[in-house]
Amino acid sequence: MSKKILVVAGDGIGPEIVAEAMKVLQALQADGSIDVSIEDALIGGAAYDAVGDPLPAETLEAAKASDAVLLGAVGGPKWEPLHISKRPEKGLLGMRAGLGLFANLRPAILYPQLADASTLKADVVSGLDIMIVRELTGGIYFGQPRGVETLPSGERKGVNTLVYTESEVERICRVAFDIAMKRGKKVCSVDKANVLECTEMWREVAVKTAADYPEIDLSHMYVDNAAMQLVRAPKQFDVMVTTNMFGDILSDCAAMLTGSIGMLPSASLNADGQGMYEPIHGSAPDIAGKGVANPLATILSVAMMLRYSLDAPAAADRIEKAVSQVLDQGLRTADIMSEGMRQVGTAEMGDAVVAALS
Ligand code: NAD
Ligand code: IPM
Ligand code: MN
Repeated sequence: MSKKILVVAGDGIGPEIVAEAMKVLQALQADGSIDVSIEDALIGGAAYDAVGDPLPAETLEAAKASDAVLLGAVGGPKWEPLHISKRPEKGLLGMRAGLGLFANLRPAILYPQLADASTLKADVVSGLDIMIVRELTGGIYFGQPRGVETLPSGERKGVNTLVYTESEVERICRVAFDIAMKRGKKVCSVDKANVLECTEMWREVAVKTAADYPEIDLSHMYVDNAAMQLVRAPKQFDVMVTTNMFGDILSDCAAMLTGSIGMLPSASLNADGQGMYEPIHGSAPDIAGKGVANPLATILSVAMMLRYSLDAPAAADRIEKAVSQVLDQGLRTADIMSEGMRQVGTAEMGDAVVAALS
């Protein structure tokens, strides 16, 4: 049965990298490996410019009616002066909340060909395979009260609030434990339980939930130490589970272990297995429009989509193998370039992946 994909390219390099991911999807469609129907919609700054809203109602409706959403990236300096409710990032957050995408999976895997692309020593990162499970619809991103108010003194006060309920913590821990059961069975829950009551509760719920997973080796780490350990000895981690904001920060850090932020895909899932798929990086305004962005994180996000939402694991494998093959051929975008390799642009990289599929 044909599956529906909604494509929201967004801003900056978003349309450039999504165009390459679309080539891959279309190639798989053309050779009969997948059966999908694809629709486009507006999100982010592009949507604001067109209709005055970073998440038009019809985009969210179309997303709800789809099996999966493929997103490029949103945001950019052009929209920074807008009120926060109209900013491109609000469109992305609205999509996550509107679809209930509470589980964000961010795999940091080092392709062996890129051991020299990382700023860390090759032996620190070689063989790296970490899954960061980030809670995505709660925490300080969504907690109330929030905002900026002017005090009687005339001074302004800014407030954001870290909020989690036990059930929110339990369900994200279950996702992490279920994933860990299919890999190294080790989960590190990252918190700041020494300072923040909310994450002290997080730790208690993690421990309680782990009782249903006797085979899981659960450990806990404060987020400051976790950031340090990720660059000191990243291979100690198998699955990491953490809050919305800690996961945002730690995954950018983990991305650099793989050579570049342009390599890290993600899946954001709800309780029904519906998902949104996007690279973890942003709209990269500094390189937008130049045709040099790395499209591999977006192409690898398509592989995650095929595996998690479209029940096409063989096609997902083919994409991942094709990416590996292209790296074997020595092709590199600027962000992963190293000596002796051949530098290519966004489109050439996408074309090479498509060629390697067959
Ligand atoms: P960014 O991830 O866009 O860029 C950080 C650095 O990484 C830049 O130097 C950029 O050139 C580089 N980079 C990112 N993706 C790359 C790729 N595919 N290939 C090569 N280099 C790449 O982060 P930022 O600069 O902090 O944010 C820029 C804008 O993107 C902001 O408006 C921010 O809110 C938004 N943002 C959006 C998302 C998203 O849509 N999911 C994620 C992060 C940031
Ligand atoms: C990400 C981004 C987003 C986040 C922003 C753009 C809202 O940084 O997807 O990692 O903070 O979640
Ligand atoms: Mn981020």
